[in-house]
Amino acid sequence: AEIETRLHAILTEHAGLEGPVLPILHAVQAEWGHVPQETLPLIAEALNISRAELHGVVSFYHDFRDAPAGRHMLKICRAEACQARGGKRIEDAARAKLGVDWHGTTADGGVTLEPVYCLGLCATGPAAMLDGRVVARLDETRLEALLSEAGA
Ligand code: FES
Repeated sequence: AEIETRLHAILTEHAGLEGPVLPILHAVQAEWGHVPQETLPLIAEALNISRAELHGVVSFYHDFRDAPAGRHMLKICRAEACQARGGKRIEDAARAKLGVDWHGTTADGGVTLEPVYCLGLCATGPAAMLDGRVVARLDETRLEALLSEAGA
């Protein structure tokens, strides 16, 4: 299958690298937008590690998704300064409104919710980022507006 051909190329590119697990997983995610389940046995075999070990790595690093992300990506800052400015309320409101937890994607595939730790807008938090655009001074009204912009 095509996925296997691409995967073999990725594995070959990284052959001989020291500590190849993370670079390979990053390359796989760059290729498909997530780490497809069916690549795991082949990667484990190529690296001579157990599937359980590989699974452990994938789930430890929240950078890796096991399913495609939604059409929109909403990242909410969970770092200290934003928390001190009421960020927790925004987090809770976003999770409730979207009906997902962190790293989750809404059922219609519209929005993925991710935490982020500081967007450099600490003085004007709570801060968030929708599809790469940063938003400061979030309150529930502005959150509503963001979510409806994302179609949620
Ligand atoms: Fe949220 Fe810095 S702590 S932007």
